[in-house]
Amino acid sequence: MDWGMANRLAQLIQPDGRCVFMPVDHGYFQGPTRDLEQPGRTLEPLLPYTDAVFITRGALRSCVDPARAKPIILRVSGGTSMVGKDLANEGITTSLEEAVRLNVAALGMSIFVGTDYEKESLLNLARLVDDAERCGIPVMAVTAVGKELEKRDARYLSLCCRIAAELGARVVKTYWCEGFEAVVRGCPVPVVMAGGPQVDTELEVFQFVHDGIQKGAIGVNLGRNIWQNEFPVAMMKAIRAIVHQDATSEEALERYNSAKSEKVAL
Ligand code: 5RP
Repeated sequence: MDWGMANRLAQLIQPDGRCVFMPVDHGYFQGPTRDLEQPGRTLEPLLPYTDAVFITRGALRSCVDPARAKPIILRVSGGTSMVGKDLANEGITTSLEEAVRLNVAALGMSIFVGTDYEKESLLNLARLVDDAERCGIPVMAVTAVGKELEKRDARYLSLCCRIAAELGARVVKTYWCEGFEAVVRGCPVPVVMAGGPQVDTELEVFQFVHDGIQKGAIGVNLGRNIWQNEFPVAMMKAIRAIVHQDATSEEALERYNSAKSEKVAL
């Protein structure tokens, strides 16, 4: 592997082989998502606990201090919105030259397997990998489901992850699901888990993150379940304990509860 590629991957994946990515890219199709109305404010307290930030170029330039940034995974697909005809009809929104100018550690884009735009999104991924690999930049593929959250099962996600890896993604971001071990087993590159919409309790988040890590995911790219929580920093500390210290979900809950009181004590 070329030095540049190895160096960028090492910025993302920590020496223990694990990672906690912080996605704040939701605005690129959702607009000002709850608790992400001002991405800079959302991100600020979480940065110390974040291994890399998943973000668009616009939010990066306007909301993140270049002197204090963490490694950046640049979201480079888009062109659709929640109120448009079809979320799957994405294109590549950002040039490679721009990514190099922004000194990013990786690029991220969505694929929409099984939709009318399957072929376009997969060929976009293949072309992006061709171009990015020439510059030593890894691509993270996102197995997007759009509004169809019920698609998140092991059979479908295994298909998406494997295709993304075959097309050259260096990392694949997917959802946790029942039978997650099949998703990881069928994917020859590292898998990270997204969270989707906020779930009912913190323990549920810790349980699926723990299960996913035990079944072979290398980490998370978890947004709403962290920054829409009442205590986002406490959530980050608890999630880091699972990912980087192999804490159980119960231990993570204790960590969360004690971090909440740390905040109150301040
Ligand atoms: C949004 C994304 C997000 O990065 C991804 O869904 C992770 O965030 P969350 O945990 O909130 O689902 O790709 O398009």
